[in-house]
Amino acid sequence: MESPAEQWARYRRALGGERLPAGLIDLAALRANIDRLVGAARAGGKTLRIATKSVRSPRVLELIASRGGAVVRGLMTYTAAETAFLASLGHADLLLAYPCVSARDAALLAAVNAGGQRAAVVADALDHLSPLEAAARAHATRIPVVVDLDPSYRPLRGAAHIGVRRSPLHGAAEVVALARAIASSPHLEFAGVMAYEAHLAGVPDRPASRVRGVAMRLMKHLARPELALLRRDTLDRLHESGLAPRLVNGGGSGSIESSCADPSLTEVTAGSGFLASHLFDGYRELDVVPAAYFALEVVRRPGDGLVTCLGGGYVASGAAGLDRLPKVVLPAGLSLLPQEGAGEVQTPLRVAKGVELALGDPVFFRHAKAGELAEHLEEYLLVDGDTIVERAKTYRGLGRCFLG
Ligand SMILES: Cc1ncc(COP(=O)(O)O)c(C=O)c1O
Repeated sequence: MESPAEQWARYRRALGGERLPAGLIDLAALRANIDRLVGAARAGGKTLRIATKSVRSPRVLELIASRGGAVVRGLMTYTAAETAFLASLGHADLLLAYPCVSARDAALLAAVNAGGQRAAVVADALDHLSPLEAAARAHATRIPVVVDLDPSYRPLRGAAHIGVRRSPLHGAAEVVALARAIASSPHLEFAGVMAYEAHLAGVPDRPASRVRGVAMRLMKHLARPELALLRRDTLDRLHESGLAPRLVNGGGSGSIESSCADPSLTEVTAGSGFLASHLFDGYRELDVVPAAYFALEVVRRPGDGLVTCLGGGYVASGAAGLDRLPKVVLPAGLSLLPQEGAGEVQTPLRVAKGVELALGDPVFFRHAKAGELAEHLEEYLLVDGDTIVERAKTYRGLGRCFLG
């Protein structure tokens, strides 16, 4: 087992004279994570769809897909423009997992389908269908539409809501009604159901607070059977109505085991688990190793036991909290200063006794979220052992920004 000191020295050798900040993917770790996630899908008889928002580099997507083999099928995308971009690179099985409401975005999806590739999109309301229908008609094609069911845990007869706020569809009857409307349109195709359990996949079992951890594990224990029932009931009702879904998608990295065990799903999604950003450290179901880092350069010493690095303010989105800050990991014995956190241009660090850092040395951090790191970098340096074997451009490095 490699020690943190050995790992730091290895990455430092790999970076050599690279300009910092730099992003680094450890290929051995990435391979282990692909095998872990793909292995879970294979064991559960599912295919695995890659969540592109948690990767944001076409080359890294390709590496995951090629190692995953036939189990990896399709990409889950996050905007229409990104979907069209990935289609232009040859990806032919795309599912846009967030609704598309403008004529311009609908036209992008229609053009992909008219060109012979498959770009499906989720919908959760009749209003979502009109722009899709108009664009499909104009392109003389059909757009596959997946109904987005919200499987949040809603105890007390729905008075409590534990989950994300996305789709308003909470039950089988609502899904059937929308599926029927889709199937009755000559320009749309009812393609299936997505029921993403964010309250399981996006909530760690071991958060910083032990009390919260107990509460979250109890919630998950109660929510899992409800989720399985809801999905089963929805599928039964669709079948009874003659609306057999082609795909039933669910899951995320954080729920990989339980999602793969749900017989209702035909496919599971995973993204963050491949690069294993630090918000995914505290999950019982996810046994992966950190694969993505960013390196900052030590540029000054403001006092005893302190160094300051250039750059570093890569703070993650979501409810603001300390867990959104990057984690400084290599060498061991460094910590952020609570007064400053990670600064855009300067990040000071406390250095434990015995840790030696020279000016110009790299310090390695992990981002809280896997995909967002790529928004700060033009490329990932792909490292095997202590050597950069390839450079993988991020969307940003390719001049693309899909949420900007
Ligand atoms: C619809 C949907 N499915 C699946 C996922 C899981 O992705 P990841 O494995 O990156 O957590 C997400 C993440 O937010 C999502 O929005």
